Formats: sequence, C-alpha cells, structure tokens
Amino acid sequence: MKTLCILGSINVDHVIRVPYFPQAGETLTGSGYQIAYGGKGANQAVAAARMGAKVAFIGAVGDDDIGREMVSAFAKDGIDTTAISTIHNQNTGLAMIQVADSGENSIVISAGANGDLSPALVEQHRAVIEQADTLLMQLESPLESILAAAKIAKQANTKVVLNPAPARALPDELLSQLDMITPNETEAEILTGVKITDDQTACKAAGVFHQKGIETVLITLGSKGVYLSQLTQQSQQGQGEIIKGFKVQAIDTTGAGDTFNGAFLTALLESKTAPEASRLAHAAAAISVTRKGAQSAIPYRQEVEEFLAQHD
Ligand code: RIB
Repeated sequence: MKTLCILGSINVDHVIRVPYFPQAGETLTGSGYQIAYGGKGANQAVAAARMGAKVAFIGAVGDDDIGREMVSAFAKDGIDTTAISTIHNQNTGLAMIQVADSGENSIVISAGANGDLSPALVEQHRAVIEQADTLLMQLESPLESILAAAKIAKQANTKVVLNPAPARALPDELLSQLDMITPNETEAEILTGVKITDDQTACKAAGVFHQKGIETVLITLGSKGVYLSQLTQQSQQGQGEIIKGFKVQAIDTTGAGDTFNGAFLTALLESKTAPEASRLAHAAAAISVTRKGAQSAIPYRQEVEEFLAQHD
C-alpha cells in the first residue's frame, strides 16, 4: 500500500461559539467552550487515515499531557507517529477558535512545538519522506523546514503537495518544488495576484501556478466546489473544470479544508482520477461541516461511502 507522509502542525483547539465575531474593544459572551484536537497537519493526517490511507506523520508536540494524548489518539486512528517529536520545555501548539452562528470561524494560533519542527528534525526523518508516495504539507510549520522536506521529496521522486494555509506569500524556490497545490480563494489570490470571482479568474490563477511548473492546481471555492486544473501535453495553460460540492447545513466549518485535503490525497493514492477524488473529498468535507470541532468532525470512510450512495 502506498504511504502518504504528512508534515505539519498539531494544535490543541480552544473553541468557543459566538453569535458573531466581536469588533476591536468589544466583549462578547460566547457559549459551548470546548478543548478539541486540531492543527492543519494533524487534521489532514486524521482525515486521510479515516479514509483508509497508510499515513506517516512528521510533526512535534510539547512536553505536556495534551500533546501525549493527541499522539496516542493519532496512533488509535492508525497513523504512524514514529516521526512525531516531543519538544522539552515547550507547549503543544494551540489555536483559539471562535465559531459564529453562520458556521464560519476565526482562528488565532500560537505555534508552540510546531515552531520547533526544524530542518534538522526534518532531516532526521528523511527516510519517511523518501519512502512515501506523496508528501502533503501546509504552512503552520517553519518555512525553511517545509522547503527542506520538499527538496528531500523531490530528490526521492516523492510527489510534493502543498495546502498553502494559512495564507502567506511564498518563494518561487518552494513553489517550483511542488507537483500540486491546493489553495482556497484567498490563498490563491495572495500567491497569484488574481482575485477569483468566477471560472475565468480561477483559470487565470491556476495558469499562474502552472507557469511555475505546478502540474495540478486545485482551488477550493467554499460551497461552490473546487476548480481543478491540470497541465496537459495539449495545454501548457492547464485544462480546468469546476467540480461541485454537496449542499449541507453547515454548523462548523473548522477543519473542512483539511478533511478535503486528506480525503483527496487518499483517493489519488488509490489511483482514482482527480475528479473522482474531488467527489469523495467533497463528501467527506460536507459531513465534517455538519459536526462540531476539527478532528472530532472528520468522518470515517464508510460514512463517506454511505453519503455518496445517498447523494448519487
Ligand atoms: O484548519 C483548521 C485548523 O486550523 C484548526 O484545527 C486549528 O488548529 C488551526 O490550525
């Protein structure tokens, strides 16, 4: 079975529901405070594992109880946790999350141990990257470590996929190492300068990524679905299409993008086509937004197959 290596963050999420996002200086009474397992890397690893992928995770937790609890929860999900380091005198990363009545969220993170996932630590786990079919990363880890991992992967013919979240500008040195990129509209705009409003602008933004040598571009468009564009021999601009998602009543969108990424990569590793993989990933993400929390909301494969059977 092909392995998916995920390098990324592990956060303890402190979640509170709010009627709306407060303005500067405003104090608001929230409800339903919860501590939950999160972090973009960890959420993607859990999503892939629950979809049935063989997952190895490279990350770091602090020397604290919550970090240890999360690592053992990942192992229960079947994730290989050998390459998760414990950083002494450091806290596990954390995220303060407000979830509004609309289901949208607002997140502030403190890197904690995620900030200590150094290039030297990545180097220690070189073999995990080299032996994987695909390396999936996000941007809650130090950029120099992401770059180091991408270079190791490239040399070993391991495919490199970047989910460029949270949004930030990136050097061409990193973009040129990627086989696939999976931004949302905001991230795509920051990286390409193209504001995505419709199919044409999505196509234009995808073209900018293709020009940097990235073969597959998947721009997530929220409830509208995804714009999937692939370089073909006929078109160096890429050939794209919108793949629609499913309409559900969202109560919490935290981790929906992570669920999509984990499920999408799992399906590709099963040799599904990118449109087929998008459909499976849409279903997984749709289920996740109907539940509260990040990892607690991520469905198992059987639930996703049942959802697809009902919505076919
Ligand atoms: O993508 C959602 C995640 O972003 C949350 O789980 C939080 O930890 C932040 O990393």
